Amino acid sequence: MNADEMKKQAAWAALEYITTDGVVGVGTGSTVNHFIDALATIKHRIEGAVSSSHASTQRLKDYGIEVFDLNQVNEVAVYVDGADESNHALQLIKGGGGALTREKIIAAVADKFVCIADSSKLVDVLGKFPLPVEVIPMSRSYVAREIVKLGGQPVYREGVITDNGNVILDVHGLDIMEPIKLEKTLNDIVGVVTNGLFAMRPADVLLLGSENGTQTVLASK
Ligand code: 5RP
Repeated sequence: MNADEMKKQAAWAALEYITTDGVVGVGTGSTVNHFIDALATIKHRIEGAVSSSHASTQRLKDYGIEVFDLNQVNEVAVYVDGADESNHALQLIKGGGGALTREKIIAAVADKFVCIADSSKLVDVLGKFPLPVEVIPMSRSYVAREIVKLGGQPVYREGVITDNGNVILDVHGLDIMEPIKLEKTLNDIVGVVTNGLFAMRPADVLLLGSENGTQTVLASK
């Protein structure tokens, strides 16, 4: 079974968490694309969706699923999204697809965050996957210098403009032993919009597609 088949398996397993008549939070990426395909099969059971990117919004609309502005919605019962890495506390690195800011906003609003991924994404220590940081364009060099002081090696993701009109630095070389501390430290750098550490608001459930079926992982204390 290849990684995409594992992603698909995890994505379909997430249907079990969808509440009837609720608004579903939808993330971004190849795993989420499988989830949107799955969600379309039960679209009559949901009120609609809120989406973390133009790409996911388009795919949802193509299936005839109504997409609400987050400001129109009082409650998001479940948010389903992928990840680039998860540790055993279900703290994540996200943003490989560049949608980290809107993803973090919907995750903050959601009652339950269900992360879907293939089994390669579960790691002991976060940081092998370069940590995406979305920055206001004019602050890019300043933020990069501050990140170097923290021990990271920022690389400008050339040619990419986020849905919010910003740019991304991918930070290599971090062994993230204290994810919450680093998330807060990066947030404090002027010009940073969001960083891809989801540690203050981790996932509640991780569905991992694997050769042996989908594993349900809950945060270890
Ligand atoms: C997008 C994300 C994605 O969830 C993450 O990059 C995983 O992507 P994929 O499902 O394609 O492996 O954070 O910003």
